[in-house]
Amino acid sequence: MKKEPFITLEQVKEIAKNYPTPFYIYDEKGIRERARAVNKAFSWNPGFKEYFAVKATPTPKIIKILKEEGCGVDCATYTELLLVNKFCKIEGDDIIFSSNVTPKEDFELAYKLGAIINFDDISYIDYYKSLGIPFMKKMCCRYNPGGSFKISGEIMGKPSEAKYGMTREQIKQAYVKLRDEGVKEFGIHAFLASAQNNNDYYPALARELFNLIVEIKNEIGIEISFVDLSGGIGIPYKPTEEPVDINTIGQGVKREYDEILKKNGMEVSIYAELGRYMLAEYGALITQAIQEKKIYKDYIGVDACAANLMRPSIYGAYHHISVLGKNNEENRDVVNWKTYDVIGGLCENSDKFAIDRRLPKIDIGDYLFIHDAGAHGFSMGYNYNGKLRSAELLLKEDRSVEMIRRAETVDDYFATLWGQSFLNAWEFFKYIWLKRELILIHFKEPTIWSEPLLVHK
Ligand SMILES: Cc1ncc(COP(=O)(O)O)c(C=O)c1O
Repeated sequence: MKKEPFITLEQVKEIAKNYPTPFYIYDEKGIRERARAVNKAFSWNPGFKEYFAVKATPTPKIIKILKEEGCGVDCATYTELLLVNKFCKIEGDDIIFSSNVTPKEDFELAYKLGAIINFDDISYIDYYKSLGIPFMKKMCCRYNPGGSFKISGEIMGKPSEAKYGMTREQIKQAYVKLRDEGVKEFGIHAFLASAQNNNDYYPALARELFNLIVEIKNEIGIEISFVDLSGGIGIPYKPTEEPVDINTIGQGVKREYDEILKKNGMEVSIYAELGRYMLAEYGALITQAIQEKKIYKDYIGVDACAANLMRPSIYGAYHHISVLGKNNEENRDVVNWKTYDVIGGLCENSDKFAIDRRLPKIDIGDYLFIHDAGAHGFSMGYNYNGKLRSAELLLKEDRSVEMIRRAETVDDYFATLWGQSFLNAWEFFKYIWLKRELILIHFKEPTIWSEPLLVHK
């Protein structure tokens, strides 16, 4: 699939006058269209809901756009729960809490928000009970079938190596425990393979889960009311790859639904927790070439680094790069194309956005558009070498630009240092000043999560 930047060099030059590189930019139009396409593909299922995986892009403005398109959220931690509730006013059934190794505070907050809690392990049910948190009307369990997950004989994932979920026997016992605690509506969840750029993953997973819930109904008389297919649908990171067809995926799940569930007189709602498929293609990291180095290879040094986008460095992941304003056609043998390693400035040799990549000749000052960074991009950022997180910008539908997260400053980086000169009144004043936005929000929007929102039993 041809990779085209969703923004031009001229626009980037304009933006860079106000927001220095590196920065993330997201395409609102693309995000909305993708959300609509997903909803349409599963519209045959009246209860269908996409719960956007917040970990992919924990940026309130983006989550609000998805909320407007009818999506809920999948949260995994206390902070993610708080973020969606405080900044996006999301609560109740619009949140699935799919956590693992879950601290007490996280379960308490999930309960207060009325989220659908998805237990990762059978032992968590006793733990949850021991915390004195009431069980809710609607709860979920995560399944791990073990072995290898195969599609048409090909291994797509190794659930037996994954830390998540419960075995077949455990999940049945878990539902019985939940029923004994008064739970009335049950869900099943599984995530068996990641970044699946094919139309078969969801239908194959659905088949596995639909068969299991028929078995559960027959064996223990518990009817599952929703099946959460979680995340895992991929995107074509490389121009040589083709995108999935979400309608074919939706129809593939429907086929399994009709064959397995309808035949057994069962009806369920289908849920998804897509992250990558919803956002990856609609976010880019924009960075500027600041140095060129020639030793045994040619290196282009850019002002972003793995601390801004770590996927290439930790997974060896491919992210396509377009040099804005230059001919990025795949004409690899034109004289002024060169082979580069595109590198960031971390003291880590893995800090490379591309290795031996053919690109149009790069001049210092050129802007590079690093594609497909909209999911698991900014969110995985870190501060190694004191590198600071960049700003996030939104390219709105009218093509104007809005800052949706400012860039970190050194003061942010120093803000958690304690006991240095904090007793100094000036330092204290600075700390309060830095936190003023959070403090103001707290007073302007009294915590809507401070009281239990739903009566759960
Ligand atoms: C529980 C859960 N749901 C959903 C997702 C989103 O996955 P993806 O971005 O691959 O769709 C993840 C990713 O780590 C996850 O752990």
